[in-house]
Amino acid sequence: QQCEAFTQNLRAWYRVHARVLPWRGVRDPYRTWISEIMLQQTRVNAVIDHYARFMTRFPTVVSLALAPEEEVLALWSGLGYYRRARMLHRTAKLLVEEHGGVLPSTAVELRRLPGIGAYTSAAIASIAFGEPVAVVDGNVERVLLRVTGRPETPGAAAAEFINVTAQALVPKTNAGDHNQAMMELGATVCLPRGPMCDQCPVYDECRTRGEHTTTPRTPMRSQ
Ligand code: ADE
Repeated sequence: QQCEAFTQNLRAWYRVHARVLPWRGVRDPYRTWISEIMLQQTRVNAVIDHYARFMTRFPTVVSLALAPEEEVLALWSGLGYYRRARMLHRTAKLLVEEHGGVLPSTAVELRRLPGIGAYTSAAIASIAFGEPVAVVDGNVERVLLRVTGRPETPGAAAAEFINVTAQALVPKTNAGDHNQAMMELGATVCLPRGPMCDQCPVYDECRTRGEHTTTPRTPMRSQ
């Protein structure tokens, strides 16, 4: 079946080609949370150093919750969108005060926390807890539109199509790796301009393979 082939080929590719990043290979919900917040609207390369410094200074939810806000913001400098840092800090305090300092383990519960939306809740639940929920960001949208050959039209119906398709592809096991592989494919191969179809692990499954002229710009969702 087409979905199976897609998911298997993607997984095999990811095992070989995944970039080694400091937040990968550790199953710690706190680390996943911090890295995914930092990665919103920010390039991987810009995040790496900030992430390392942040983790050294605030290795746990409790250490973050106890810190003065100025210090959290100082470590955020250079990443921009300081609202993210304020939300992070606020949520750490809330976790300590009301959840025993631990992050909840399902996407539904995570999403109730301030600053954690559909994207971040699915990322944490799948990467740190293995829940089979799809992560959809701009890269994933672009990959799915190209693979399915669906025309890029903004609006609720298109967003629904993306979510349903993304969810249909998520395997029951290793959902976190699958989601990261989808994002990785969009970030390194299925580029907005000039996708490198010759290096694509799901070339055979793709409806628009080799059409370098299509450059969806993922206007349907903000994160
Ligand atoms: N972009 C945001 N989070 C990511 C992740 N975990 N892997 C790859 N790209 C990402």
